[in-house]
Amino acid sequence: MSEHLTKHHPDSPNGCDDVSKNESGNTPFASILDARLSRRNLLKGSFGLAAGSFMSINLSGCLTNSDGTSPDNSFKLGFTAVAKGTEDLLRVPAGYTTTVLYRLGDPLNTTTPAFVNDGTDSAASYQFRAGDHHDGMAYFGLSSSGLSKDLSNTSRGLLCMNHENITRIFLHTAAEVGAGFPSGARVVSQIDKEVNAHGVSVIEVVKGASFSVNKLSGFNRRYTAASEMTISGPAAGDDLMVTPYSNAGTATRGTLNNCANGVTPWGTYLTCEENWAGYFKRQTSASLATAKETAAQNRYIGSGSSNGSYGWANPVGGDTSGVGLYDRWDISQSGADSTADYRNAANTMGWVVEIDPFAPGDLPRKRTAMGRFGHEGAMPAKAVAGRPIVYYMGDDAQNEYIFKYVSNANWDPADANGGLTAGNKYLDDGKLYVATLNADGSGTWTELTITNPLIAAAAYGFADQADVLINCRIAADAVGATPMDRPEWADVNPVNGDIYVTLTNNSSRGTTGLSTGGKSKGLDAANPRYYDDGEGRLGNPNGHIVRFRETGSNPAATTFNWDVYLFGAENDQFGNPSINISSLTNDNDFSSPDGLWFSQAVPGLMWIQTDDGAYTDVTNCMMLAALPGNYGDGGAVNVTNLAVPSNAGADQTVTTYAGKAATPATLRRFLVGPKGCEITGITETPDGKAIFVNIQHPGENTSAANIGIPANFESHWPDGGTARPRSTTVVITKNDGGLIGS
Ligand code: FEO
Ligand code: CA
Ligand code: CA
Repeated sequence: MSEHLTKHHPDSPNGCDDVSKNESGNTPFASILDARLSRRNLLKGSFGLAAGSFMSINLSGCLTNSDGTSPDNSFKLGFTAVAKGTEDLLRVPAGYTTTVLYRLGDPLNTTTPAFVNDGTDSAASYQFRAGDHHDGMAYFGLSSSGLSKDLSNTSRGLLCMNHENITRIFLHTAAEVGAGFPSGARVVSQIDKEVNAHGVSVIEVVKGASFSVNKLSGFNRRYTAASEMTISGPAAGDDLMVTPYSNAGTATRGTLNNCANGVTPWGTYLTCEENWAGYFKRQTSASLATAKETAAQNRYIGSGSSNGSYGWANPVGGDTSGVGLYDRWDISQSGADSTADYRNAANTMGWVVEIDPFAPGDLPRKRTAMGRFGHEGAMPAKAVAGRPIVYYMGDDAQNEYIFKYVSNANWDPADANGGLTAGNKYLDDGKLYVATLNADGSGTWTELTITNPLIAAAAYGFADQADVLINCRIAADAVGATPMDRPEWADVNPVNGDIYVTLTNNSSRGTTGLSTGGKSKGLDAANPRYYDDGEGRLGNPNGHIVRFRETGSNPAATTFNWDVYLFGAENDQFGNPSINISSLTNDNDFSSPDGLWFSQAVPGLMWIQTDDGAYTDVTNCMMLAALPGNYGDGGAVNVTNLAVPSNAGADQTVTTYAGKAATPATLRRFLVGPKGCEITGITETPDGKAIFVNIQHPGENTSAANIGIPANFESHWPDGGTARPRSTTVVITKNDGGLIGS
């Protein structure tokens, strides 16, 4: 089991979904792929210009100096680093103030009762309350009066927010928790509550003394794991999307395990479905109809039978809803075809879903052109008129891939208010690419298309492009993409177009000859570390952050160069210099980077958030501010992975390309959360003077046996006393009114 399981989903097998199901054996050294552009040549091209005053407009539209820095990025980190710690507190630097904005269960309107928070709040009421496990989010400015969009407004906006998962023991009464959650049939109202606590919130927030939720707003709404959604793009209407709910294969119910997010240049929100696979009950592979169905299930969901993470397919008394509200969580084949059972229901999850915050009546649209996998997030390159719209996306599971989407249509600023109609134009018609990171520091984006001979010839037997998009992991296997150490958030530096992708950790990254979980995953240049963290964790327990520069700084390029911006580590990591490669100190050491986001208001300011289980004996999860420099600002590094007892082999040396070492001026801890939480999700007002940050699942390591003993809860944050802990959005401002991070 992964570390992630215990830290993220303590009562559920759902966390297994981030464990590797990639048996492709792909390596970045695959001979089928030529590194057509050597790193050395590209370095000349990118950086061979005389240093000094040369400036250019690059293809991403950014004004840059020849060294890639912004001519105006004089911003400096100005706060005192927050110390590591394990107190049940949210700590920020001196001179900053945090305000609680939106907690699990908070009502969205004035008719929903206040949250009692003892498990008695009704299942139905969660359709009008904050869901659980707040995650990715984005602020969209709203005009000061009226109902129109004004993306520049800093004092009134719509906050869109994901509710990724649940801490189940805190949703139900002590008596219900004490009775246990059976692996068989479950109480219907408990299932309904859990379904409704997932999904997305849209809330209007207004600035007074601080921000608060306007409970009178007609924009306020919830999408849950039961809400109607439209399936859009090339896979809509495909045979693999047909269900009893939609024989046309164009609609489904629910968005699920919404992790990170994205935004569009036309002012809509993207919510990304991550660990959805575990929620489904499935039968053993042997009873599936075809080898192809078995291959798809094994690659995405895993083999073997299961009741699904939470048993939603098994209500007491069976599904009497008449509309398959519970049967839809069972993808076993029981009927004559896909109109008679929900064998295809899982094919309707795993997508990027577009929501127009300003159009409550529009159904969310699942954008199938962007591929189906464990979507962490989808963040855009800067939109440039006359150029394609580009998104970067991580597939969060061990040894999965990094993807890119490039629209076929070129950006027309006239579409800036186009809502979901603009989405149809840019997100339903494009090219899906997967990344291969070569040992020499170059890389290739390979388009996943049925016309690629390697995909057409794959043993799986792709039927058409819809099949390629629905099963794009299998297509990516076929073209030799590089398995990574669990890709999480990706974002683009608005100053220079560099792309950053967090790789949170990987317990099944091994040295050659070491099989972990039944497979051998060798080290490579982009995933170069294998070590023992001193507490028995092997592989890459602390994670790293990889950085891409597209060829010609063109987001639509099909080649790129990469380096490793930063390696996570404990600062005193056992005297092994190949662990703390980035020279982290007490003021900026961290483990398991997950959230990563660039301020749009403060050029070059990047935030890093952690979802960690390796360094939590010393510190709760945290958020750091970074001024990350440029691709190529470091150099080649030989990482010597010392042999560890479980690996009888010798030391292994891998050459990678590391960014410049961190310093207190370029990386500094800004926030440490309460006990048992993950820090995830961040957005800002357009002036950069307030940030919104999500504190997810404080106290999640509380055991079910302690639910009746508040003194034994791991956390009582944010309400204190004997309260159950709650996932919460906080607003952070600087007391002198300055930019956050200054
Ligand atoms: Fe939901 Fe990859 O974190
Ligand atoms: Ca995450
Ligand atoms: Ca530790």
